[in-house]
Amino acid sequence: MATLKAVRGTRDLLPPETALWNRIEATARAVFARYNFGEIRTPIFEDTSLFARSVGEETDIVSKEMYTWEDRARAQSEKSQSLTLRPENTAGVVRAYIEHRLGETGQLQKLYYIGPQFRRERPQKGRYRQFSQIGAEVIGPPSAGSESPLRDAEVLEMLATLLDELGITGWTLELNSVGSAADRTRYNEALRAALEPLAPAMCADCQRRAVTNPLRVLDCKVPEDQPIIATLPAISDSLDEDSRAHFAAVTAALDAAGVPYKLNHRLVRGLDYYTRTTFEFTHGGLGAQNALLGGGRYDGLSEAIGGPKAPGIGFAIGLDRLVLTLQTQELNQSSAPRQVADAYIAPLGESINPAALALARELRRTGLRVELGEGGFRLKKSFEAADKTARRIVILGEDELQSGILTVKDFASGNQTKVPRADLVAFLTQSASE
Ligand code: HAM
Repeated sequence: MATLKAVRGTRDLLPPETALWNRIEATARAVFARYNFGEIRTPIFEDTSLFARSVGEETDIVSKEMYTWEDRARAQSEKSQSLTLRPENTAGVVRAYIEHRLGETGQLQKLYYIGPQFRRERPQKGRYRQFSQIGAEVIGPPSAGSESPLRDAEVLEMLATLLDELGITGWTLELNSVGSAADRTRYNEALRAALEPLAPAMCADCQRRAVTNPLRVLDCKVPEDQPIIATLPAISDSLDEDSRAHFAAVTAALDAAGVPYKLNHRLVRGLDYYTRTTFEFTHGGLGAQNALLGGGRYDGLSEAIGGPKAPGIGFAIGLDRLVLTLQTQELNQSSAPRQVADAYIAPLGESINPAALALARELRRTGLRVELGEGGFRLKKSFEAADKTARRIVILGEDELQSGILTVKDFASGNQTKVPRADLVAFLTQSASE
């Protein structure tokens, strides 16, 4: 029988890498707390129409990358329903905002999430079919100030702070405005006109998009189409006064806060719900999949899925890509922290195993990180195992149990110390925090 493996585009995360994931998640939670965000957890699957109506039928995500299935009715009272594994989390958050009438509080809702997303993409470095995002959304009724450019700037400043605190160096914030819904309609018309004579020379996808949703032509990755795309009008020329003023206010606030950015008028993003501010943070170390995170404003999204007017702005960080970036950086600095236990307890003989478990329990309850050996091992084998996993080995035999004096050897210094059992916690705690 063929051996079973993780499905293409999915992966197992193993220690010590998972420690890095946890560190990033803990840092993100701490930063979000300082900006007064709360956590939201939405289901991993949703009604398919949610994504069709928010992300957009014509996007790559909805048209070819979703994991969708027909959930058959199991009882007369149920209807069969088309369900989809979430390809992103903004749609689910806005659905929850509407369902729980969060707008009626009159307050801005500041929500963050951490969790898996699913897209049937061609897997490569930094691109998976199951991947994780850390994201956040700021959404609320206009009376709560949800349309203010200050919200955009605050979210971007928070991201810059988070990346800095994680120790990510060399990121670039690419910034654009895709304007209001009316601006986008105008821009789509300008693109449609410009594309009419050009589209026949382009790829099949672009020929279709040129008619159905010309903006999506800008997402095309086919190399031969790029020179044509470079000649198309820029969206900045289609913005009305309000959109221009909004964008100018965002950049003015970023300038005041000292957050660096680069304007990129071609940045339209791969999802249809965006209005006005759009952005990506890119990183050179990531190769082809260079977007660490992406986001933007979505002032009409709530209404598009049947809710009240609720402008919002948010982002999602590709956690897998953040981990890749940090791993590359740490390799370069050769400072990847090795995960080691504070002590390895080596029982001398199987009869000592129960006493060793009791000692390990005592030490672990004080917060020490402890590896418990095996009394069946010869001492040499215990030493080898301890040297691989811990900073110190604690020998526990009949003599030690009788006398209450334990032998502790420190691998880095080579020092061997006799430590009374009553002093062991203090001894190890002191050495653990050295
Ligand atoms: P997105 O640009 O589709 O936006 O995804 C955000 C980030 O998720 C990307 O920049 C990338 O780092 C990561 N990502 C996307 N696809 C994959 C993949 N197949 N493998 C690994 N990482 C991936 C959104 O999802 C929006 N919901 C962001 C947002 C929130 N906009 C407003 N609020």
